[in-house]
Amino acid sequence: MGDRVEIFEVGPRDGLQNEKREIPVAEKLALVDCLSQAGFNRIEVASFVSPKRVPQMAGSGEVLAGIKRAKGIRYAALTPNMRGYDAAISAGADEIAVFASASEGFSQANINASIAESIERFEPILEAARHIDLPVRGYISCVTDCPYDGAVAPEKVAELADHLFAQGCYEISLGDTLGQATPDSVARMLLAVREAVPATRLAGHFHDTAGRAIDNIDAALAMGVRVFDAAVGGLGGCPFAPGASGNVATELVHEHLTRLGYETGLDGDVLVKAAEMARAMRSG
Ligand code: HMG
Ligand code: MG
Repeated sequence: MGDRVEIFEVGPRDGLQNEKREIPVAEKLALVDCLSQAGFNRIEVASFVSPKRVPQMAGSGEVLAGIKRAKGIRYAALTPNMRGYDAAISAGADEIAVFASASEGFSQANINASIAESIERFEPILEAARHIDLPVRGYISCVTDCPYDGAVAPEKVAELADHLFAQGCYEISLGDTLGQATPDSVARMLLAVREAVPATRLAGHFHDTAGRAIDNIDAALAMGVRVFDAAVGGLGGCPFAPGASGNVATELVHEHLTRLGYETGLDGDVLVKAAEMARAMRSG
């Protein structure tokens, strides 16, 4: 049996948050319920952010309440502040995620806070989560390139990863938000980040804007990363990163990893079915 590599499915959140069409909750539930049959350990399904900023995520409470929960899967939600945290807990999220940026420009555009302010905002969230043993994931956006500030220094990413890990995030997901990273820039960034956080606590989150996501995954695999975020059907993008396109498609990552001899534990047939559903949601 090959080495295990986990795919963290983010399609119902990162995928759908950028869709223009208002997607009914029933369609989201059908997608999540299909994904729940594929063998994931973790699926991100919700985001408790301002509905004015991200209208597509407005029904997140209903999504968490309506899905058919499969045993062994943690259903995750983004929580930018204590208000989001309280909503996620009431809705029954099994884990949550705080999200920061390695660049000041994207931090302001995305969450209306500097990097330092965002870390302060996360403190009470991590503190509250600690009391109830709720796992908290930490995202870092713009780990190589920022749409506002240009190239991002690997040391900035390492410093922020160190902060989030010390605050209690169990895993740090490193986001190429713009999809402009290259295998070289990914390797340079990971060399620095691995000094602060063990590779076993890192995840790669690649958007496929420039068609390099699979090459970037290979670069991260070579550096010891064994968790990758992906969105079924290649859904997605970020409303605050102009030009950024979808996350790398789950079914492609699964095929690629399998070809390399890794075990994902996923059922390829279910992924194909879910990808068809996802693409149909996109085209409306
Ligand atoms: P703020 O802009 O600092 O202002 O919010 P605020 O706290 O005064 O709130 C502004 C408005 O949002 C108010 O409503 C609040 O009530 C409301 P108004 O008075 O204007 O009607 N509000 C909330 N509503 C619902 N739930 C909440 C909440 N908090 C405030 N929890 C905030 C800061 C972060 C909330 C805001 O800027 C925001 O929602 N931003 C959107 C961030 C976002 O969702 N971005 C996309 C996800 S991140 C991503 O995609 C990257 C990732 O995939 C990794 C990668 O690819 O790099 C993770
Ligand atoms: Mg993303």
